[in-house]
Amino acid sequence: MRIYDIIERKTQHGELTREELAFFVKELCEGRLPDYQASALIMAIFLNGMTERETADLTAVMADSGDQIDLSGIQGIKVDKHSTGGIGDKTTLVIGPIIVACGGRMAKMSGRGLGYAGGTIDKLESIPGFRVALSQEEFIRNVNTVGMAITGQTANVAPADKKIYALRDVTATVASIPLIASSVMSKKLASGADKLVLDVKMGSGAFIKDLDSARQLAEAMVSICRRNGRETVAVITNMDRPLGRNVGNLLEVQEAAATLRGQGPEDLTEVCLCLAAQMLSLAGKGSYQDCLERARASLRDGSAFRAFRSFLAAQGGEYDVVEHPEKYYPVPREQVILADRDGYLTVRSAEDIGKASMMLGAGRETKDSRLDYTAGIIFAKGAGDAVAKGEEICRLIAQDAGRFAQAEAAMRQALAITAERPAEEPLIFAKVGAGA
Ligand code: URA
Repeated sequence: MRIYDIIERKTQHGELTREELAFFVKELCEGRLPDYQASALIMAIFLNGMTERETADLTAVMADSGDQIDLSGIQGIKVDKHSTGGIGDKTTLVIGPIIVACGGRMAKMSGRGLGYAGGTIDKLESIPGFRVALSQEEFIRNVNTVGMAITGQTANVAPADKKIYALRDVTATVASIPLIASSVMSKKLASGADKLVLDVKMGSGAFIKDLDSARQLAEAMVSICRRNGRETVAVITNMDRPLGRNVGNLLEVQEAAATLRGQGPEDLTEVCLCLAAQMLSLAGKGSYQDCLERARASLRDGSAFRAFRSFLAAQGGEYDVVEHPEKYYPVPREQVILADRDGYLTVRSAEDIGKASMMLGAGRETKDSRLDYTAGIIFAKGAGDAVAKGEEICRLIAQDAGRFAQAEAAMRQALAITAERPAEEPLIFAKVGAGA
């Protein structure tokens, strides 16, 4: 087999066999493929696409390129959840405890954030004592005893994806549905869950900006899973505005805790309930409607909140930081942004809100940036709310007050006060997949 022939066929709109895709991945991972040939094939895929079968096969061989996580020590059906990433997305922290309170289990591997979308591991690391690097044994033991565990990705999961992504990143080939779908799903297939719920974020704060592309991505990911024997539901959710009122690491943990006590913002609560019910239903805990009712009850009766505290304690985290952050961190500085006229709060770009939060120290500009766990933004008003001149819209929070000027400029770009109330948008646009 020759890589030249494989590239040539893709440039001619041909369909590659599983063996050819496996050859490409093996040669790349074993260092025998020069970057220019790998990039040429990636570009040909970017331009000419792949069939559903090719996409599923590429994903499977990428998943096979490294370790396969064995979750067979966990009793019951293992359902994982993956979000394509957005601003203020702390859903994992809320969904896990709801699942546990409703009799399910969540074994989750998560990543750190780079750029403006935060990662779950960064949020958890804002909790003093919380251990994000669990051994495989402890991970499985915690899921069996506490009901959930979240760990950083330590194993060598889908190394082919790292290599392909690094080339896509510098050859302007990231924005390809089959390449994004195979990248995301290769890591998920290798992570061992039986079933999956995907939160496909769509809007100005997500890398997918329109419903057509979101649907294509959701369908591609669901098809990969079906062809690889994992039942999957994808939910397309709104990311034209931040989810909830807090953006930033510790700030998001605090908002997740409030949501689990039944005192969270409505948008965050509803998205979490929907995703949790979808996961419970896939895990065989009843119909979607029944699971939704039980999930809602777990927020009212305190059982989800108790599950959250047990989960933190099992991984060494001090819950006390949620209520008394001043005992663990220097009190951060604040700068309030006030409305300069009467009107309605409109979010022009959720991405710019993410950038402002990164400028405050909550996100990484490079993979070596140090985070300020206390930094971020708290909104006093939500998108579409009426505001009067002089009222607080939001406050910027950071240890380093020198960061406020640049972040405020980004926030002024991101937000507008309009005379007309912005049109109401759905929180959940569509569901794709069996049982959706
Ligand atoms: N996230 C991934 O893991 N891969 C992509 O290609 C895009 C987003």
